[in-house]
This record gives sequence, structure tokens and C-alpha cells, in this order.
Amino acid sequence: MLFFDSKRFFPMTNWKFRASEVQVKLEELANYSEVKDALARPTLSKSHKKALEQIQIWMQEAGMAVVNDHAGNLIGSLKSKIENAPTFLMGSHVDTVSNAGIYDGNLGIIAAISAVELVGSSSSEIPYNIDVIAFSDEEGNRFPDTLTGSQAVAGTLDPNALTVSDSEGITRAEALTSFGCDPALACNSSYLDERPLGYLEIHIEQGPVLEREDLSVGIVTAINGARRFTISVGGNAGHAGTVPMSMRADALAASAEMLMAIESIAKSDPGIVATVGMLEVSPGARNVIPGHVKFSLDLRGENPVSIDTAQASIFSEINNIASPRQVKIEWSQDYKTPPTFCDPSLGELLEESIRESGVMPFELTSGAGHDAVAIAELCPVSMLFVRCEKGISHHPSEAVKLNDIAKALEVTHRFLTKFGQTCLRNG
Ligand code: GLV
Ligand code: MN
Ligand code: MN
Repeated sequence: MLFFDSKRFFPMTNWKFRASEVQVKLEELANYSEVKDALARPTLSKSHKKALEQIQIWMQEAGMAVVNDHAGNLIGSLKSKIENAPTFLMGSHVDTVSNAGIYDGNLGIIAAISAVELVGSSSSEIPYNIDVIAFSDEEGNRFPDTLTGSQAVAGTLDPNALTVSDSEGITRAEALTSFGCDPALACNSSYLDERPLGYLEIHIEQGPVLEREDLSVGIVTAINGARRFTISVGGNAGHAGTVPMSMRADALAASAEMLMAIESIAKSDPGIVATVGMLEVSPGARNVIPGHVKFSLDLRGENPVSIDTAQASIFSEINNIASPRQVKIEWSQDYKTPPTFCDPSLGELLEESIRESGVMPFELTSGAGHDAVAIAELCPVSMLFVRCEKGISHHPSEAVKLNDIAKALEVTHRFLTKFGQTCLRNG
């Protein structure tokens, strides 16, 4: 039977064609969502499972052997024909925020599959295995912590992470079991005996810098440190009509003052960003004084000392506000990552690959968190940022130009080829 073999017809240098294949897959993947008419794919949800089933098919079509680990990650492996070859990692996350765009995380998985497919179909043998990982939990929008998928791969997952619960009281261990994993094995990494040579994550920039510089791609040098907290404010619920203003302990009014203080502390240091993105008010009725509020705090920065200083100021201000208002404060830290540095040698290979692809190499830091942060505990990491329109992310209007995906694929192919040459030189 005669059929049109697109890969033969379009030579491997037709990056735009390959980019359009990536785009089509990303659009298809966006159908795996918990809600209709929007993309919302929390970790270990039904839509996460369905998305992995589809990605597994694409990995297999690209010539990879595929396994699911016990932390909800999917791992596709392209084996080198060289015996006992070392492994290089690629990938990104498959979970999304609510009302997400289609590129955050998912681009890094699908672009890596495309890159591996091309490497696998080339006549020259690669001297290393490539594992592409669809990480299970980068957004942290179901459980209070995050990066547990990549921590499991890195062998740093704390067993306590199995006991935390989502808003419905389901623990991570229960969610893993429903997902088909064995939580008792979730913390076991198969990568510790023979550490991977390195990791490359392709990710949209999620900021406006590459657009300002008129560049398709950029090299990430470092990823900001991040901390997440849950703060609970306990006041007294009461009748909205009868309790005099001077006799109230209104948990929401106190929280509002705390939120303003957090904003003003973060604004006082250009190296810091602080966000309160979740607020739960109870009992939550128009005619009842709020008796209890729980809010989240996400605090990030490049410099750990600045983060420490901002954290200390914020909690001191929260206590100063709580005391005269007679509300009780309890807080917990749910997550903490240090600023993470990308590997300079992998960065140099990216730089050469970008230059040879006709783009001016440009370095930038990442304000967003990435699986690379956790993987940096396992092996040297690198990240290639891809320009996104107006820097918009975590929003359905997230957009990436086909030409920029094409450039990312070209750079990645050059990078993987150069990396192979380095491996051969180093024996
Ligand atoms: C993930 O997108 C994060 O930076 O919070
Ligand atoms: Mn992401
Ligand atoms: Mn994200």
C-alpha cells in the first residue's frame, strides 16, 4: 500500500512541520481536562490518567519503551544501542493549573518526544539513552506541597508528602492508589544507582523578556527560590447586625489588613514577589461576621537572604495586626525550594546550539518554579525558555508562535547531537 510518509517527505530540517505536529498534539492533549470548555488537570486526577495514556501512545510511536512509576510519572526511554550507556533526562509536567493554557509544562513533554523521535530515526547512533518524563505534580494546585513527581525521580521525596490531604480530605497516598500506583514505592527512585548525565527542560518563558528582546528562545541560568505557607486566622463568628464594631474579632477584616501588609513588604524589595492566591472564609454568609479565614502565601526571590528577610517581616507584621484585633494566628510552611542554578556546561552547549540555529544567545532567570528545581538534586540541569505572547501564562490565552516552537526543536536537536559528541570525547 502506498501512503504519504510525512517524515520522509519533509526532511528532518523542516522544523516548522515538526512544530506543527507538536502544536496539534498540544491541542489534543488540552482535551484531557476535569472541566468542559477549559483546561484544568490536577495531579492524579482522571484527566491526568487519560493524558498519560495518550502521551504513552506518542512516546511508543516515537520509538520509546514506556513505564509508569509509583509517583504518577510516566517515563519513556529511547535506548542507545551502546551497552550500559548512561542516561540523559528530558521532560516537564503534565499537570496544569485551573483554567490553564496548553503550553505550560506540556510543551516540554511533547517537544522532547519530537526531539527523541528525530534522534531515534537518525542513522547515527546516540551514545546515551534518553528518558523523557511527564512529571506528575508541578503546579501544586491539589495538595499544599508541589514538585513531588520530580522529587520522586530525584530520590528526595519525603514520605510525609504521602499523608497530606487535598480539599476533599483525600491523602496523596489514597490518590496515588486510585491512580494505580503503590504509595509504598513512591519514594523509590530508579535513578540513584546510576545518576543521569543531565537534564534538559523546554518550557515557555511565562514572562515578557524574550518578547522584549525579540528572541525565540533563551537560556535559563537560575530559578528563583520559592516558599509556600498556609496561614489560618481565627476570630469570632457572630451576628452581622447585633455585634458592635468595637466588640468584633473579624477574621476577614484582619486578613485583609495582613494581605495589604504582605503586598507592601514585597513591593519594598524588587527582588521579592509575594502572592496570596487562595482565601477561604467561613462560615461565608452575608449576615455572619467571618469567624475563620485560611489563606495561602507564595513567596519567591533570587536571593535566600532577601526571602528570609521578607518572610520575617511578613510574619512579624501578621502578628502585629493580629494582636489588637484579637485574632489567633496559626501557620504552616508547605513547601520550600532554594534558588537553583542551571549547569554552566550544559548552558554552553545550549548557547552554541542557539547560535548555530541563527538566534542570538540570551540568558535569563526564571521567576516560575519548574521540575528542574527538584531534578537539580539528582544531576546537572538546563532549561531552554521559549517566547510566549505578551508573557501570559497560567491563562487560556497563553500562546506560542509556531516559528518559536520550530526554533526550540532545532536548538534541542543540535544540543542533543553536541551532547553525544561530548559523551564520546569524554569516553
Ligand atoms: C508553577 O508554575 C509555579 O511557578 O508556581
Ligand atoms: Mn510549568
Ligand atoms: Mn505553571
